[in-house]
Amino acid sequence: MGPQVSTLSDIFQGPFLGLGLGIDVHGDDPDWRSLVDQDHRPFDFLEVFTRGDGGIAAEVRERVGPDFPLIYHHENLELVYPSPINKPAIEAAAINLNALSAPWCIEELAYREIEGRYIDFFMPALLTHESAVSTIKKLKEINSHLPTIVTPENPPYQLPVGDLHILEFMRLVGEGADVPLILDLGHLYSYQLCVGADPLDHLNKIPLERVIELHVAGANLVDINGVTIYEDSHGADVIPEILLGMLEEVLPQCPHIRAVTIEVEDASNERVLSEVERVRKVFDKLGVKAHGS
Ligand SMILES: [Fe+2]
Repeated sequence: MGPQVSTLSDIFQGPFLGLGLGIDVHGDDPDWRSLVDQDHRPFDFLEVFTRGDGGIAAEVRERVGPDFPLIYHHENLELVYPSPINKPAIEAAAINLNALSAPWCIEELAYREIEGRYIDFFMPALLTHESAVSTIKKLKEINSHLPTIVTPENPPYQLPVGDLHILEFMRLVGEGADVPLILDLGHLYSYQLCVGADPLDHLNKIPLERVIELHVAGANLVDINGVTIYEDSHGADVIPEILLGMLEEVLPQCPHIRAVTIEVEDASNERVLSEVERVRKVFDKLGVKAHGS
């Protein structure tokens, strides 16, 4: 497969890829190489995360073969940080997208650097109109340099700042930059906990026809003096049952859904398989099948 150029309508009209695993190429757990080498892979695609190093993703394409679907999850384009675009980061994203032949590029609405200094905390978007306007401008500019579309994902929250609901912020960014959206159900739940709302309150604020991918992942729900905080721990913990209920409700409402991803970084291979089984049960209940399965 050569480099793939994807437009918005290519992405919306493409097939449903099914259930995939989000893996971190920098991590040892799960052992994605042994999962990939199985005769019958229990997942339909992989979503490959890198911290932004160009070239590091190529090994995954070599390992899975030329036709297995791969999606790319980048970090360091800093979509919501109001700085000029970072050309080396965009070049690295393009190298990985082309190596994977990925149909879209995910990046969270968050930032990790301030004026070039790495901060060891994942800073989620300020939820204001000004922040949305600056994100739209930056996202449009970044997308003009890439072979496919950077598709924003809602980040986790423990202390949201700003007067917009996260789903309203996503609507502004999705419509303003004319991009698809990734809805991470655990991250949405983390926000709803912060504002004392039910898990799917205000779902009508996000244009679900733009949502092409849903994420679920393990989490640790911590009670601090009666306040529940969502710790986004991915494979280190199991997927909270409440997220599977959210998935069952939201998935049928997304007409252009292309993928459901379990983010499994730090999981044992055994946990990966048991989480796949849990999510497959939701698919079976809904009668959802991957293209070609
Ligand atoms: Fe996610």
